[in-house]
Amino acid sequence: MIKNSSKGYGWLTILIHWIFALAVFGLFGLGVYMVELSYYDPWYHDAPEIHKSIGMILIFLIAFRLIWRWFNPRPEALSSLSSMEKHASEWAHRGLYLIIVVTLLVGYVIPTAEGRAVSVFGWFEVPALFPTIDGMADIAGEIHEWMAWTLVILAVVHGLAALKHHFIDKDKTLVRMLRPEK
Ligand code: HEM
Repeated sequence: MIKNSSKGYGWLTILIHWIFALAVFGLFGLGVYMVELSYYDPWYHDAPEIHKSIGMILIFLIAFRLIWRWFNPRPEALSSLSSMEKHASEWAHRGLYLIIVVTLLVGYVIPTAEGRAVSVFGWFEVPALFPTIDGMADIAGEIHEWMAWTLVILAVVHGLAALKHHFIDKDKTLVRMLRPEK
C-alpha cells in the first residue's frame, strides 16, 4: 500500500524515512570528513560537491515528505504506548522534521551566500535566493554544524528508542516502519 492507513505506514513513507536515515548519517560522516581535507587531497573538490548535491536533493524530498504527511497523516499510536510515550514520540518526530529543514536550508545558504547557484551533480542548478550579507557564509557554516550535531544526536536517541520498543517492549513500532501493514 502506498498510503498510510490507521494501522501502519505505507511504503512511500517507509521508503522516504529510510532514505533520510541513510542520507542524514551519510552526509554527517561526509561533512565531518571533508572539513579536515587538505587542498592536495583527491577528495578536496568532490566531497563537498557530493555533500551539497545530496543536500539540495533532500530539500526537495523533505518538502515532498511534509506535503505527503499533511495529506496522509501518520497511523494511530499503538495502544501499548502510555500517553506520555505518545506525546514524547510526536514531539520527537516534529523536532526531527524541524531540525532537518533548518539544517538543510542553512546548508543551502553556505555556498549561495555570495550569490552563486549550487550545481546538483551537474544535472541542474539551484539559484541563490537570499540577499548577500557580509560574513553570512561563516555564520551559516557555524549554525549548520551545530544543527547537524543536534540532528544526529536526536536521531540516535530516536533509533535507540525504536530498538527498545522492538527488543524490550516487543511491540510493532519498528516493524511497522519496516514493512506496510497488509
Ligand atoms: C537520521 C536518522 C533518522 C531520522 C531523521 C528519522 C526521522 C523520523 C521521523 C521524522 C519519523 C516520524 C514519521 C512520521 O510519522 O511522519 C520517524 C519514525 C520512525 N523511525 Fe525514524 N528516523 C531516523 C532513523 C531511524 C532509525 C535508525 C530507526 C530504527 C532503528 C528509526 C525508526 C523509526 C520508527 C520505528 C518510526 C515510527 C515510530 C512510530 O510509529 O511512532 N528511525 N523517524
